[in-house]
Amino acid sequence: MSSLLVHELEQQLRQLETQLAESFMQTVELLSTLVAAVERFYEGSHCRFIGYKAAEVARRLGLSEVEVFEIQVAGLLHDIGKIGYPDALLQKFPTEMTAEERHLYERHPELGWHILRKHSGLQTVAEIVLQHHERLDGSGFPRHLRGRQIHIGAAIIAVVDVFHNALYRRRREARYRHAAPTAPVPSPEEQQRYIQVLRHLEEKAGSVYHPAVVRTFIELVEEERRALGQRLLQAVAVNQLREGMVVAENYYTPYGLLVIAQGERLTSAMLPVLVRFAELGEIPHKLLVWV
Ligand SMILES: [Fe+2]
Ligand SMILES: [Fe+2]
Repeated sequence: MSSLLVHELEQQLRQLETQLAESFMQTVELLSTLVAAVERFYEGSHCRFIGYKAAEVARRLGLSEVEVFEIQVAGLLHDIGKIGYPDALLQKFPTEMTAEERHLYERHPELGWHILRKHSGLQTVAEIVLQHHERLDGSGFPRHLRGRQIHIGAAIIAVVDVFHNALYRRRREARYRHAAPTAPVPSPEEQQRYIQVLRHLEEKAGSVYHPAVVRTFIELVEEERRALGQRLLQAVAVNQLREGMVVAENYYTPYGLLVIAQGERLTSAMLPVLVRFAELGEIPHKLLVWV
């Protein structure tokens, strides 16, 4: 084969890879937009919080780039099986559900798995989603897996999920609600819930939750809280935003779609998207951020 032909083939292959990667990401984005429908009862975006924090824990645990990516996608999509659930159910904490509601609620990991496994590129993601309510001691669902039977990605998502539910679940719809932007220091009740959930995770580390995951996650959130306390709150023009700044308010489009939530750390991928949203008039031209 001539080297020119090889070169041409290589180029075509690279193009195909890029196209496939792009179409894969578009699929994930499309699916995560759908998931937003089931997180009306959270302050901020539940699935984005789980996606980003789970990926950060995975990175700190030394997992490979591919694993980190899969865990982030699984985090973004972990509750996709709740699509179509009635508000009356989404609103409740599992302890408040009737036996029938509880049964339906416990099916969401499996329903999610059914949706995701149809995509050949999402097989591992589907398996992680199926396992995200499993617990080390077998008390989880749906398969009552134990210890090492549980995928590390699912063990990570479980911890981050418990934390976010304890702190940011609301009884009423959180849409259009703006959080107080001026206090990087949480309110006394938030502080209380924060201490309680960390204590719960620490107590159950090794029996219910993966011990290294709990340790790493607590390190991460504690570091972030300390760093936030030292930051300055500023209104910054959208085109001046930089990677690493932390958003201080929830920003919604006029039709109620959460664009970015309080506490989210800006990544380089988010910057052009925010500029586009501001140009379209969907969000203000200046955002409140901690710098
Ligand atoms: Fe879930
Ligand atoms: Fe969740």
